Amino acid sequence: MLKSSALSKTKEVLAKAEGPRGNGAGTPPSTDEYEDLIAILKFHEHQYYVLDDPQISDREYDVIYKRLEALEATNPLLVRSDSPTQRVGSDLTTNLEAVEHLVPMLSLANSYNLEDLQDWEGTVRRYLNMEADEPLAFAVEPKYDGGSVALVYENDYLMRGATRGNGAEGEEITNNMRALPTIPLKTAFSSLGMDRVELRGEALIRKDRFAKINEQREADGQQVFANPRNAATGALRMKNPKETSDRKLDAFIYSLGFGVDKDGNDQVQKLGSHFAAVEKLGELGFLIPGQYMKRCDSIEEVAKFCAEMEEQRPTLAYELDGMVVKVDDLALQARLGSTAHHPRWAIAYKFAAQQATSTLLNVDYQVGKIGSVTPVARIEPVALAGVTVSNVSLHNEDFIRDKDIRIGDRVLVERAGDVIPYIVKSLPDYRDGSQQPVEWPSHCPECSEPIVRPEGEARWLCVNNDCPAQVMARLIQHVSKDAMDIDGLGEKQLARFRENGWIQTIPDIYRLPYDEILALEGFKEKSIENLRLAIDQAKEKSLQRLLVSLSIHHIGKKASKMLAEQVEDIRDLADWPEERFLSIHGMGKTVADNVSAWFANSHNHNMIEQLAQLGVNTKQTEEDKPLAVDESAPFFGKTILFTGTLSEIGRKEAQGLAEAAGARNVSGVSSKLDILVAGEKAGSKLKKAEALGTVKVMSEGEFLALVR
Ligand code: IVH
Repeated sequence: MLKSSALSKTKEVLAKAEGPRGNGAGTPPSTDEYEDLIAILKFHEHQYYVLDDPQISDREYDVIYKRLEALEATNPLLVRSDSPTQRVGSDLTTNLEAVEHLVPMLSLANSYNLEDLQDWEGTVRRYLNMEADEPLAFAVEPKYDGGSVALVYENDYLMRGATRGNGAEGEEITNNMRALPTIPLKTAFSSLGMDRVELRGEALIRKDRFAKINEQREADGQQVFANPRNAATGALRMKNPKETSDRKLDAFIYSLGFGVDKDGNDQVQKLGSHFAAVEKLGELGFLIPGQYMKRCDSIEEVAKFCAEMEEQRPTLAYELDGMVVKVDDLALQARLGSTAHHPRWAIAYKFAAQQATSTLLNVDYQVGKIGSVTPVARIEPVALAGVTVSNVSLHNEDFIRDKDIRIGDRVLVERAGDVIPYIVKSLPDYRDGSQQPVEWPSHCPECSEPIVRPEGEARWLCVNNDCPAQVMARLIQHVSKDAMDIDGLGEKQLARFRENGWIQTIPDIYRLPYDEILALEGFKEKSIENLRLAIDQAKEKSLQRLLVSLSIHHIGKKASKMLAEQVEDIRDLADWPEERFLSIHGMGKTVADNVSAWFANSHNHNMIEQLAQLGVNTKQTEEDKPLAVDESAPFFGKTILFTGTLSEIGRKEAQGLAEAAGARNVSGVSSKLDILVAGEKAGSKLKKAEALGTVKVMSEGEFLALVR
C-alpha cells in the first residue's frame, strides 16, 4: 500500500472508530472494510518494526487492530491466515519436531585481519581461475549474533520456520516465527517468479530490550540471561508463541538461499548479485541489514568497512560478533560451491573478543528501591572493550551458587557491546585453597532487618519499607531526570538533607526549610534560590513523570506514559479493575496486581494526598494526552535530531516542541534522518549529515520560527 493512501485510509478508519466525539463510540466495522484494515495494519507494522519509522501512536494502532478483531469475531469465515490478528492464535503450540532444511545450513570459515581476508581472496581467485586484476566484488554485512532461522514460503505464504539445528535438520518453529512482526506472513515472491523459497536469517533481541528483559527478570526473581543470544535462542524455542512474541525478537534476513518456480527451476540466479537479492527482500517487507551492508570492489575496502563497523560496534542496537564477507556475484557463488563445512564464497570476519579475566575481591550488597538485595562483585579493575570494569552485578543468590563463584576466584568477565559487564564463569583451575564461598546474608546489609526470599523467586527482599537504603533509592528515583527532574538535588544533597533530618519521605522534598539550608556549608543564596525554583517547577510536572517518580514496581517510563494517557488523576488508578489494565497494550495481570496493591497500601495513599496538598500536580496534563495524527503539523512524519548547543531553549524542551509539531526524535545521523537542527559548535553529526546530502539542516532560529 502506498504511504499516502495508507495514511489517508488510517485517518478515515480512526475517524470511524473514534466517532464524532473522539470517545471510541464510532460506527461498528463493516465487512467491506476488511481488506483495508489488514492492509493498513500491515503498513504500520512495517513502518514500526522494519523501517523503525512509526506513523501513528501505539494507541491508534490498537484502535485499528481492535476494529479488525471485532470484525473477525462477528465474521469468522472471513478471517485470512495472513491477517495481523493471526500471528499468535490462542490455541497454538510449538512442538519442535525435526524438519529437514531444503538446503543445508552450513557454518562459516573465520578471518581476523586483512591478511586472512587477502588469503581468502587468493583462494577464491585461484578456484575461479581469475587474474589478480580482474574485477571481483564483495558484499559485506553484519554477522548478527542471535539464533539462526530458515523460513520457507510457498505461493507467497509463510509455510514453515525452523531453527538451524545440526545444519541438516532443524526444529520446526513455524508458529513462533508467525509471532514475529518483522516476518511477513504473506509477500509477493510470485513477482520474482518464485513458487517455493527458503530464506536464511538471524533472530535477535535489541541490546536495550535485552537489558530491560534482564532487569525485569531480576526484579521478578528469575534467572537472568547471560547475553542477548541466549535470550533470543531461548525465545525461538518456546512452546507458546505468545511467549516468543513477548520477548520481541527482530529477524534480519541475510540470504535468499533457494527459490524455484512451479517447475522447480531456479529463479535466484536471475537476481545477479547477493546484494541485489537482499535488497529485493527488503522491498518484499523483510528486515535487512540496510545501511550496514556494503558492496566493496576490493578486499582492502572490505577490511576498511569491517574496521569501521568494529569501531561502531558499541553504539549499534544489536549484538554483532563480526561481519560476513560474501562474493557478490551469484554465478560465481554457484561455481565456488561449498565444502562439507562452509561455503567457499563466504567468510566471517570476527571482531576482537570482549572478554578478560580478573580476580573477585569481595561481594557487596545493594538494596534497591523496592527492596531487592543485589550482590555486586568487586573485582580487580580490568580494561574491557574500552572501559575499566571494577564492579559487576552478580544478580542473585542462585547465580553465585550455580556458577560456584568464590571470593578470591579468578573470573572470566565479558562485556557484550554496551551491555553491562557480566561474569561468565569462575576459573576453578586457578584456585590455591584460599578461596572462600560467598556467604549469603540473612539480614539486610543496610537496616539489619531479616530478608526474605519470596516463594518461586530468585531474589531476596528487604521488606522493611523504611529501610534507609530503600528510602534513599526512592528519593533518588523521585528527583531523577526521567521523573521530577529536580536540578541541584542529587544523591549528595539528598544525603545531607537526610542527615539534617529535613528529608525522610518524598513529600519532605516539598517542605524543605530553605533558610536553614543557608546555614549549611556550600549553599549560597543563589544556589538555594535555584533549588527552590527547580522544586517549584517539579510541582507542575506531568502525570507520567509523577508515576515514574514513585518507584511503583513494573511502572517505568513507557507504562507510565500509557497510564497517564488514560486517567484524569493519579488516584483514579486505585479504582481500575484488572480488565482495564489488560486492555492496555503490553500490560498484564502482574502490573494490574502491583498497581492495585501499591495504591491499597495506606502509606502510599497517604503520600499521594500529602503531595497533592503540597501543590504537586496529580492530574493529567496536556503533555500526557495522546498525540493525535495531525498531517498539517509542520514536521508531520519527520525524524529530527538536535546537535550542538542551543542558545534559546533547552534540548529537552526543543525535543518536546518537535514532537508536538509531529516529529519523532532520533539519536543518530543515518539515512533515515530528515532534519538536523544544528546549534553552536555542532561537530561530527553535522558533518555526517552534510555528507549524506539528504538531511535538511536548519538553525535553532529556523526551527523555532517553524514550530512557534
Ligand atoms: S551466511 C551457508 N550471513 O553465522 C552459510 N550467516 O557462523 C552462510 N550468521 O549459521 C551463512 N549473520 O547463523 C551468513 N550475514 C550473515 C550472518 C550469518 C549471522 C550466522 C548464521 C550461520 C553462522 C555461521
